[in-house]
Amino acid sequence: MSEYTFTDHTYDVVVVGAGGAGLRATFGLAEAGLSTACITKVFPTRSHTVAAQGGISAALGNMGEDDWRFHFYDTIKGSDWLGDQDAIEFMCKEAPAAILELEHYGLPFSRTEDGKIYQRPFGGMTTHYGKGVAQRTCAAADRTGHAMLHTLYQQSLKHQARFFVEYFAIDLIMEDGECRGVVALDMSSGTLHRFRAHKVILATGGYGRAFFSCTSAHTCTGDGGGMVLRAGLPLQDMEFVQFHPTGIYGAGCLITEGSRGEGGYLTNSAGERFMERYAPNAKDLASRDVVSRSMTIEIREGRGVGPEKDHIHLHLEHLGAEVIHERLPGIAETARIFAGVDVTREPIPVLPTVHYNMGGIPCNVHGEVVAPKAGNPDAVVPGLMAIGEAACVSVHGANRLGSNSLLDLVVFGRAAAHQCARTVKPGTSHKPLAKDAGELAVSRLDCFRNAKGKRRTAQIRLDMQRVMQNHAAVFRSGETLSEGVSKLGAVFESFGDVQVSDRSLVWNTDLIETLELDNLLGQAVATMHSAENRKESRGAHAREDFKDRDDREWLKHTLAWVDAAGSVRIDYRPVHLNTLTTDVEAVPPKARVY
Ligand code: FUM
Repeated sequence: MSEYTFTDHTYDVVVVGAGGAGLRATFGLAEAGLSTACITKVFPTRSHTVAAQGGISAALGNMGEDDWRFHFYDTIKGSDWLGDQDAIEFMCKEAPAAILELEHYGLPFSRTEDGKIYQRPFGGMTTHYGKGVAQRTCAAADRTGHAMLHTLYQQSLKHQARFFVEYFAIDLIMEDGECRGVVALDMSSGTLHRFRAHKVILATGGYGRAFFSCTSAHTCTGDGGGMVLRAGLPLQDMEFVQFHPTGIYGAGCLITEGSRGEGGYLTNSAGERFMERYAPNAKDLASRDVVSRSMTIEIREGRGVGPEKDHIHLHLEHLGAEVIHERLPGIAETARIFAGVDVTREPIPVLPTVHYNMGGIPCNVHGEVVAPKAGNPDAVVPGLMAIGEAACVSVHGANRLGSNSLLDLVVFGRAAAHQCARTVKPGTSHKPLAKDAGELAVSRLDCFRNAKGKRRTAQIRLDMQRVMQNHAAVFRSGETLSEGVSKLGAVFESFGDVQVSDRSLVWNTDLIETLELDNLLGQAVATMHSAENRKESRGAHAREDFKDRDDREWLKHTLAWVDAAGSVRIDYRPVHLNTLTTDVEAVPPKARVY
């Protein structure tokens, strides 16, 4: 420890991450008078929320009839009944107010002729419990995440939150099962910082980069999930990984579902609009799991397009240049740059691509992290909270509906801030930290910094990504998964032989990428084991050897603990099939109907 000294900081609350959820929590906390620090490894407006395109859902009814109860039903059905219905009720009911709040903060939404917020159809969003198509997704053209992130950052600047930018959070400070703070490295100066807080809120995003092809930024390395696993806490429902149907073939960049919402459609090598066969009602706007599976079947059965017959075409040509220019300018540019395609003239080559982690850090509607304790499956872990994609509330269950993610960020970011305001008195003094607080984090850092093995971080990361891509794919089987478990075990073991060649602390990207890989590996292992363990098909988890959903055995959340040796322990939590209020009735599991 001698070489390393800490700079100490004390706050009421520390937020880790400055995407949509982190920023919404940060300024809500500051607004409530709590001293708040936001630690972020990238400048806030570079967080991955900036890449969200299609929009944010809310039953505003601006473009036709709608009701939050329809949204509630769709989200439960979309989740394949694994979502917690109390949390889903909370989110869908809060949605309209959350959108109006964003509008008042200055988010430049697209507009209808009469000046209302423009809303487009998205997959799985219906009216009258599946009977009609809802236009529920509020959009700022196809750059909604960009508009939202900048709006939230502007609000954060208005309040007195303190930002620690380009600080990498290394580990939580846990004492007697309670979170007391977090240790971070200032990447630009190489200095170590110990943040003491009554609450630490993890808003660190997903771990899409555990896969080879994903729509996620390179920064999406699930750092919060990694810290939680090292704190001896479980992650929930990690087997549920969403593949977005339309990632650009080869590049993985997102082409928004909003493009199908605006009338785009998919074809196979025969030029057939094949979604009409798989989902006669919803067609190209069936939920993402259904569309991704249908595309995969078309390719497998030899009806893919291109010389290798290994992708699918997305058509927007018929929409006309004017609609594309007004509603989809961003994806027109993305398609030009990454696929060399002029979308007004030719189809975009697309392929299902990893997009979102439904699983994450288990928590309740207030953002408090929960873990089973003394027979209570919902016992709160004192001092620790999680929001956004890092968390599993669980509002998305086994499959998230498009545009429910941005909603999740603002609703639960705000809820977490409110919960802190209710439970923390500004300026309350802190218990003294243990003398060695944070030293475990530093010894882990030191160990990687001086790692003299034979394998480069990038090699090990690529091995992991290939195993995840091939073995935790759209379709899975007992055989591919158990092979995945053993191959990933070998990759995990090879991490013991990692080599870090840069020994400095200042802008040591070699070291940071190694710390990130450690975070990714734990979550990759949790994902593969949880997927191998769940012997049914539900939402995004499609098992070829267990094709049906099995509510008798598997209507439960998976919990996975991963220890330092990569060994996994699995247990379960019940799904909340109850609602929060009597404003709506719980939705019983039903047969699949698309
Ligand atoms: O397709 C999209 O625009 C993505 C939206 C989402 O994942 O919510």
